[in-house]
Formats: sequence, C-alpha cells, structure tokens
Amino acid sequence: MKHQTVLVIDFGGQYTQLIVRRVRELGVFSEMVPWTKAEDRIRSERPDAVILSGGPRSVREAGAPTIDFGLLEGIPKLGICYGLQLIAHRLGGRVVACEAKEYGKRLLSDVDPDSWLAGLDSPQVWMSHGDQVDAPPPGARVVASTESCPVAAIEDRERRLWGVQFHPEVSHTPSGRELLRRFLFDLAGLQGDWTSEAFIEETLDRVRQEVGDGEVLCAVSGGVDSSVMAALLTRAIGDRAVCVFVDHGLLRKGEAEQVRETFTRVFHPRLLVFDARARFFQSLKGVTDPEQKRKIIGAEFVRVFEEHADQLSRCSHLAQGTLYPDVIESGSETAATIKTHHNVGGLPEWMRMKLIEPLRWLFKDEVRAVGRALGLPEEVVEREPFPGPGLAVRILGEVTPERVRIVQEADWIFREELRRRGLHRGIWQSYAALLDVRSVGVMGDERTYQQPIVLRAVESEDAMTARAKPLDFEVLEAIANRIVNEVPGVNRVLYDLTSKPPATIEWE
Ligand code: XMP
Repeated sequence: MKHQTVLVIDFGGQYTQLIVRRVRELGVFSEMVPWTKAEDRIRSERPDAVILSGGPRSVREAGAPTIDFGLLEGIPKLGICYGLQLIAHRLGGRVVACEAKEYGKRLLSDVDPDSWLAGLDSPQVWMSHGDQVDAPPPGARVVASTESCPVAAIEDRERRLWGVQFHPEVSHTPSGRELLRRFLFDLAGLQGDWTSEAFIEETLDRVRQEVGDGEVLCAVSGGVDSSVMAALLTRAIGDRAVCVFVDHGLLRKGEAEQVRETFTRVFHPRLLVFDARARFFQSLKGVTDPEQKRKIIGAEFVRVFEEHADQLSRCSHLAQGTLYPDVIESGSETAATIKTHHNVGGLPEWMRMKLIEPLRWLFKDEVRAVGRALGLPEEVVEREPFPGPGLAVRILGEVTPERVRIVQEADWIFREELRRRGLHRGIWQSYAALLDVRSVGVMGDERTYQQPIVLRAVESEDAMTARAKPLDFEVLEAIANRIVNEVPGVNRVLYDLTSKPPATIEWE
C-alpha cells in the first residue's frame, strides 16, 4: 500500500516541523523538504498536496527562496505566511512591507461566508510577519482580513490554491486544526490513510525486502523506540531478528531486570543479555568530561559486540532507532553538534552491517501509537525517553558504582512520588541528577559534607524544546525530605527551573 503524501516545503520558518506534525495528527502522511530540494522531489514523486511554509526572508529581496510554480500545477496548494506571500508575488499579486512588524494574536474579520474559512469556532489567529500581501493574484479572492492585515486569507478554487497570512499550526490559532482539516479533506480531497496499521503493514514489507534472508542485530534498551523496533522486526522476520540487551550498569533502579522480564514475556522468548557492567565502570574510571563519557560508552558497546562475535557474526544488518526529528536535524546544514548522541561509529570490520532504520519516518507519539497497535503493554509504550549513555550523563563528574546507586535511589523516590500523586501524566521526562560539588549540612546534630541531587521534570512535545514542569512547593518539599532522609550521601535537593533552550533536557 502506498499512502498519500503532503509535501511541506520549508522556507526556513520556525514552525515548519509543527505543520508536518499537525498534518500527521490528522491522519495524512507528511514530509518536510527544504525549498532547495523541493523541485527534484516534486518531479520524482508527485505529492498529493503541497504546503508552502513560513520563512524569515522577504519575497521582495533578490535571491529570496522560491520554487517553480509550473511544477505545482494541478496539485492542491496551501501557502502559510511567507508561503502566501510567495504565491502572491509569483502569480501576479503584490507584496509590501508592513508599517510595523506584526507579532501576536489577532482577530479575523470580514470572513467570506462562501469560503473555506466560513463558520470557524474561533476568530483568533497568530500572526508573525514583516511583509504582507497587498493585492492577491488575479483570480484569487480575499476571504478574510484583520484590522492591520487586509489580506489575511485567500482562495482560488479553480487553481486549487489557498493561503493564510497567519499560522494555523500553532496553538494560539484555536481553529487552526479545523482549517488544516478542511484544506486536507474538503479541498484537497485526501483520504486520511496514514494510520499505525498502514505503517506497520508497509514496514513489514519493506524490512522483508531489505533484509532478504539475512539476520538483523537489534539492540534493545528497554526504551520505547528500541522496543517498538524489536517488535516490528520480530514480526517481520521472526528469529532472524537477533535481539540483544547490553546491561551497562547505568540504567535506572530495577530497569535491567524489568527489560529482561517484559521483553521475554511480551515479544520474544529469545533475548541475548550481555552483562557488561564491570567493563563499562572500568573504562569510565576517572573520566569527567561529558563528551568523553559518551564516546567511551559508544566504543564499549562495540567492544561488547566484538566479545560476542560468535553469536552475532551472521547479522547482515543493524537496526537503529532513528526518528524523524533526527532525520530533519541531520538534514539541516547549520545544526551545531550540541551533544554527540550515541551512534554506530567505529564498528569493527566484521560488523560492517547495513543499517536499517524502520522508525525514521515517525515522531515519538507515532512510535507510541505503533507500539500500541503492535500490542505492546502500556508500561513499555508510556515509558519516558531515556538517553543511550544512561545515568552517565546524569552523574556530573566521575561515574562510580556508588554514585550510580545514589542517583538510582533518588530517581526512584522522585518518580514514585510523582506517580503516586498522578503527576507523572503530562511529563515528558523526570529524573534525578547528581552534582559534582559538596556542601555543608547538619543531620542528627552531626555536620555533613555531601553531594546535592537535582530534580528535573519537563514538559515537551518532541524534546526539541522543553519547559520545567510546574510542581507544587509542598510536593517538592516532601520529595526533598524523603531523598535526604533515605539516600545516604545526599544532604541537599534542588529543582531545575530552566527551559530548553537555553538549557538542554539532560545535564550533560
Ligand atoms: P537534550 O539533553 O539534548 O536531550 O535536550 C533531548 C532528548 O534526547 C535524549 N538524549 C539522548 N538519547 N542518546 C539517546 O538515545 C543520547 O546520547 C542522548 N542524549 C540525550 C534526552 O533524554 C532527551 O529526551
């Protein structure tokens, strides 16, 4: 089965990825393509609809991003912000600079009752622009305005062309979802064929074709991505999915046992478990630099695989849990390396396996939906994301078994207290980190000189941005008291209030 596709052409707008998410949430597959590569894509795979994104430039500047509109003939098109201005500019309308840049909530007025915007629940829209359309292209009607923006939306049914100056993809436009729904289904005539079941069916076929009669090494960590990947591969090729769990000793309390238990019970009775705790602790001895920790951990994984070459040497492929945000990020020419995420660099010669990335088209929430459709239990599907290098990036300074124990105990208490109160819902990640400083305290009339624990809980949609979870002071105080009383070695507890950016979710 080949699903329908909406191509979102990225002109550098800050919300472009959000447009893709919104379209997918409505059940239509969508992909983002930079404007520089859009024409080739449209020629090679004619999309079922196109959305032209916002962007920071002015269409009036020489060399401003654009595309050949001749290629889009017959394809339903929606221009958003810069996308609308580009449509106007290229098809015979006029674009001018706003008197002052417009940023914030506005109200739509003069909505044409015969247009695609008729009868929306809320007139509120989110504007963010410096240019605006002064005259629409010939043949297009203006169907809504705001006080300061005379051409807030246009429609040209003949040419299958629609456009809005505001941003329907952001939550500050309450009717934005309905407006996108109308574009996709009522105007572009799409079917909504992007479902978990369709994805699973397609992926099983693709994996079988790619792998042939080979075997696939599938490293599982207990996290959602690797669990869903293992379940998909097992369904596609049965025992030829060689599932391996490397216990590096850097997981949360009780997690290694839980991974083994759930995995063998739920998806696959055969799980190879390699206990490499001693090896990891040995090579992390004395290491305090975050990047060095990540590199050492990556290299140790490879050595563990080498050590077990006899069980793995028939693997022709390596499965990696790359998700769509990673694909988008690595496609960007300007993204700086903030952290070296664990990857498969430095594999030995005998492990020159081909990569397969069955989840590379999915966002995290879609991975969870696929997991549910595959019948994975909620305890797996709802698990919070956890970094590949594990607690090593939550222990500032040297990683020792004793410091791992401290962070495991504090982390357990924190998350247990949140869960007990039902506060874990809506949290993207919550954890305890151990700092590399000491402070003075007093306990039972004795002076203490010990390390502080930092608690971090964040809300996020996709880990690209995050906000600290607002928790009641009494709750935080109760948790802090428990940690200081129950975890030897800790005499102070802090709560991290920083958002991402400027901080990151993990401390290292
Ligand atoms: P940061 O700290 O960059 O994290 O805001 C964003 C998300 O990625 C997770 N993370 C990792 N995941 N390997 C992973 O598989 C890694 O090395 C790694 N570092 C961070 C982090 O937990 C958060 O969900």
